[in-house]
Amino acid sequence: MGFTRIHGVLHAEQCALDQLAQQFSTPLYVYSKAQLEQNYTDLSKAFDFIAHQICFAVKSNSNLAVLSVLAKLGAGFDIVTGGELARVLAAGGDASKIVFSGLGKTEADIRQALQVGIACFNVESAAELDRIEKVAAELNCQAPISLRVNPDVDAKTHPYISTGLKENKFGIPSDVVFETYAYAASLPHLKVIGIDCHIGSQLTEVQPFVDALDRVVLMIEQLNTMGIQLQHIDIGGGLGVRYQDETPPTFAEYAQALQPTLSRLGLKVYLEPGRSISANAGVLLTQVDLLKPTSYRNFAIVDAAMNDLIRPSLYAAWMDVQTVKTPAADLAVLQWDIVGAICETGDFLAKQRDLALQAGDYLAVMGAGAYGFVMSSNYNSRGRAAEVMVDGANAHLIRARESIASLWQNEYLLPKE
Ligand code: LLP
Repeated sequence: MGFTRIHGVLHAEQCALDQLAQQFSTPLYVYSKAQLEQNYTDLSKAFDFIAHQICFAVKSNSNLAVLSVLAKLGAGFDIVTGGELARVLAAGGDASKIVFSGLGKTEADIRQALQVGIACFNVESAAELDRIEKVAAELNCQAPISLRVNPDVDAKTHPYISTGLKENKFGIPSDVVFETYAYAASLPHLKVIGIDCHIGSQLTEVQPFVDALDRVVLMIEQLNTMGIQLQHIDIGGGLGVRYQDETPPTFAEYAQALQPTLSRLGLKVYLEPGRSISANAGVLLTQVDLLKPTSYRNFAIVDAAMNDLIRPSLYAAWMDVQTVKTPAADLAVLQWDIVGAICETGDFLAKQRDLALQAGDYLAVMGAGAYGFVMSSNYNSRGRAAEVMVDGANAHLIRARESIASLWQNEYLLPKE
């Protein structure tokens, strides 16, 4: 399964990572198809007690091959842009299983989504209701909508990825939920079908999910008394993974904690997981380029950098770094900062890690399948990494390394004077 060490060499399923690094060069994202599939099916099984639809959060990993593997298992998708919608369709995803989240959907995005017949728009403001109403009227159809409510629950995660508090920009504040539902129900080209709530990402405890669900259920009951009957509840994503020593709930624990309330409610359940499906299904492979021990710190300069994986720089995220080959027993273990070659102090992948390193070694940054490649950039005019998906003993290139010439293909010089 996934990533394991076989005879001292880290493997993706049956493929040795050092061989993949040599074959495809580094930096290289490597995904395990089997791990991706297992995560999806395990989560789906945990929710078998109720009618449900898992909508994979495309923002966590949008490679077409990844989306297509999940689509074949029956996954729907949680999208936030017209670009993600186009990707899902290009990957063979089923439009009728798409939920459209995000707080700034453009008219063009909404039109496209209505034309292909998505399952639901998760709406975040009254202004957005007006915009969807306008586009639906133009197309002479009814848009299925749910409101993303903000339950004011502390997800206890990094402030940049916490979304369910009053001070966050997301969701309809709880004090205006009912008037906003009433307004939505009054608009002729909207069909109010659901309620949605996403309180943050990388949650490592189950309690905030339970608290948020309880608050949403109270809202649903109040809506019933107003004559607004819903067909589904969308419980968002956010389930955390283990990067270091976190002990996030398993899929089964997560489902069990929500089961009594969801069963009593009896509505169809939508889920929007990203990280818990994709994170441990991917690694970023990089090669140690130069070693720079100093009297104060030891730096291992590697060929991946913050442009390839920004999580450590942006969120001070701790990601596990392992040598692909178990080092020789006589090689000294030192404390290394694993850094890129970008001209910024913030360019690092890991700090103060006990490793036995030599120039030329391959390293794997674990848990990089979510919010890895998708957040990469061309900073310092670096082409983005290649991506490979392993399926048993076979490795498939699923995104070619970006060529340097392609970086300025959309740039133009000024006309000659
Ligand atoms: N649904 C909505 C409305 C979201 O905003 C998100 C994530 C998800 C679902 C999926 O959440 P997940 O299951 O992946 O936690 N770049 C950050 C994470 C940002 C998450 C944004 N929203 C990181 O690298 O940690």
